[in-house]
Amino acid sequence: MEISPADRRFIRKKLLDWYDRERRSLPWREHPSPYGTVVSEFMLQQTRVAAVVPYFKRFVRRFPSFKALSRAGEEEVLAAWSGLGYYRRARALKRAAEIIVARHRGALPRDPEDLKGLPGFGQYTAAAVASIAQGLPLAAVDGNVRRVLARLFVIGGRSETRRIAAMATDLLDPGRPGDWNQAVMELGATVCTPRDPRCLICPLRRRCRALETGKVDRFPRPRRLPPVQRVEEVAVAALRRGALLVLQRGEGGSFAGMWELPRLDSRRIEAKNLTPDFVLFELTRLRASDYSLLGRTESTFTHHRIRTRLYCTRSLRAGAVRRQEHIAQRWVRPGDLDALAASKAQRRLFALVAGQ
Ligand code: ADE
Repeated sequence: MEISPADRRFIRKKLLDWYDRERRSLPWREHPSPYGTVVSEFMLQQTRVAAVVPYFKRFVRRFPSFKALSRAGEEEVLAAWSGLGYYRRARALKRAAEIIVARHRGALPRDPEDLKGLPGFGQYTAAAVASIAQGLPLAAVDGNVRRVLARLFVIGGRSETRRIAAMATDLLDPGRPGDWNQAVMELGATVCTPRDPRCLICPLRRRCRALETGKVDRFPRPRRLPPVQRVEEVAVAALRRGALLVLQRGEGGSFAGMWELPRLDSRRIEAKNLTPDFVLFELTRLRASDYSLLGRTESTFTHHRIRTRLYCTRSLRAGAVRRQEHIAQRWVRPGDLDALAASKAQRRLFALVAGQ
């Protein structure tokens, strides 16, 4: 699809004027730096702005530069990321910082191909960082941008992805590429929302083909998601002299390097074995004589809905932990659990233990 020079000019001007007036004040926008741009873009992959803001502030205070991040321990970095989810991002960000320090003297590489080669930098993140931090004319297409462009130009059906990418490149304002990319994202996040878009106040309403033809809710075409799978899980709070047993996961998987209670679920073991006794013995070779149900929690992980039953025991038999698949263990006082690298779901379980 072609876009006329007059329309292109109109859209750029309207949207950038709107962005200059209406953009949210966000910490990575107020004092922009290449490092802050990278950290914010990593955190914003898969996570909403409101959730990211407090994490971003704490993270850059704790690790203020690529150099500081490269020198930090992985566990410390995971602890600062704890609760934000998708922990792979934190490990990739740290490895990227190490490479930036070792090969590029602590400064972002100027060549977008070098950026794309860094851990955790896909097409989107490389374009976002190159445009925002370095002023390079690369279009960043995330879910928000995809929705705005699909509606503006009623793009759907076959080759939708390619046509949206072509349109994003065509529209990109070469004078202000970083602001342009953020303006499109901002419009998608605050006005051109998935449901109940606020078309009446949209700065682009006079050029929106979906609005003109009454098809806003038909674009973009909904993605087919895998069906939600229900998972039953049992976790065990094993207490010895007031300290709680936690185990650290090894390499591989989404929670590599993070701490958790002994737990197993219905994807791995048969329903008849979903008992605290079985779970604790399977993972630690410890036995206890008495368990009580401490509470239930629910969490969502990708397309899994996980229902956890948390059991507590204080009657462990003597004997050392012989862990089976974890790489470390610790006995932690409830007051010290906050400092561990742990997922939000695990933190909820910790809170049940601390609150009893
Ligand atoms: N989502 C991804 N990057 C963003 C940014 N820089 N501003 C707002 N939302 C975003």
